[in-house]
Amino acid sequence: MATLPRGRSLAPRHLRLGVNIDHVATVRNARGTAWPDPLRAALLAEAAGADGITAHLREDRRHIRDADINALIAAITVPLNFECAATAEMQALALRHKPHAVCLVPEKREERTTEGGLDVAGDKTRLAAFIAPLTEAGCRVSMFISHDARQIEASARIGAAVVELHTGLYADLLADGHPDLAERELGFLREGARLAAAVGLEVHAGHGLTYDNVGPIAAIPEVAELNIGHFLIGEAIFRGLGPAIEEMRRRMDAARA
Ligand code: PXP
Repeated sequence: MATLPRGRSLAPRHLRLGVNIDHVATVRNARGTAWPDPLRAALLAEAAGADGITAHLREDRRHIRDADINALIAAITVPLNFECAATAEMQALALRHKPHAVCLVPEKREERTTEGGLDVAGDKTRLAAFIAPLTEAGCRVSMFISHDARQIEASARIGAAVVELHTGLYADLLADGHPDLAERELGFLREGARLAAAVGLEVHAGHGLTYDNVGPIAAIPEVAELNIGHFLIGEAIFRGLGPAIEEMRRRMDAARA
C-alpha cells in the first residue's frame, strides 16, 4: 500500500453520503403518533445507497428520541453518525452506544437548526477532555465547525479525527440571491478543507445542501463525506425517499467525476 506523507490524506473518489433522518421524527412528533418511523426511513436510505445514517439527539428531544437511537443502533448496517451537544448526558449516551461516529455540534434551545459552528478554539481544554473517552471507546469524533483556520487547528490539537465544515452560510447566500458572496464563501470552504486535510483531519461537510448547491461542495477533493437531511426528507414527499437519495447520489458523483 502506498504511504502518504504525514498529515495528508488521499481524496477518496467515492464521496460518502450520510443521510440525516431527524425530520422524519419532526413529522412524527407533530402528531404524537408512531409514524412516520425514522428507523424505516434509515433502512430505506440504506437501500437507496446511503453510506451512513446521521441522527441528532437534541437536548430537548424535539425530533430524534432516545428510543430512536436504540432502534437505529440495533437495526442499521451502515455506520451511525450520532450528532449531539458536548454535554455530560450525551457523552454518557455515546459511551453506552459506541456509535461509529460522534459529531459534536453547538446547540441552543431557541434555534430552529444548528446555526453556527462549534467554538473549539475557545473551549479547547474542556472539549479535549470530553472527546478523549469517546475516542478511546472507538468512536470517530467529529467537530462541526466553520471554515475558520483557528477552529480547524484547534480541532486537530485536541485530538478530533474529523471536522465537518458548516455549509449553511454558503447555502443561504445562494438561496438569497448572492452568488458572488456564495462564491467567496465557497473559496473559504475550499481553503478550510485543504487546511484540515493538511493537519491530518478527515473532512466532512454539511448543512443546507440541496440538488442545486451540492455540486461545488461535492467537488472539493478533500471532502470525504456529506451529511444531508432537511432537503432530502422534503424532497421525499414528492419523489419518495429512495429516488430522492439516488438523485443526490447522482449529483454528488457527477460533481466528483
Ligand atoms: N450536519 C450537521 C452537523 C447538522 O447539524 C445538520 C443539521 O442537523 C446537518 C449536517 C444536515 O443539515 P440539513 O438538514 O440542512 O441537510
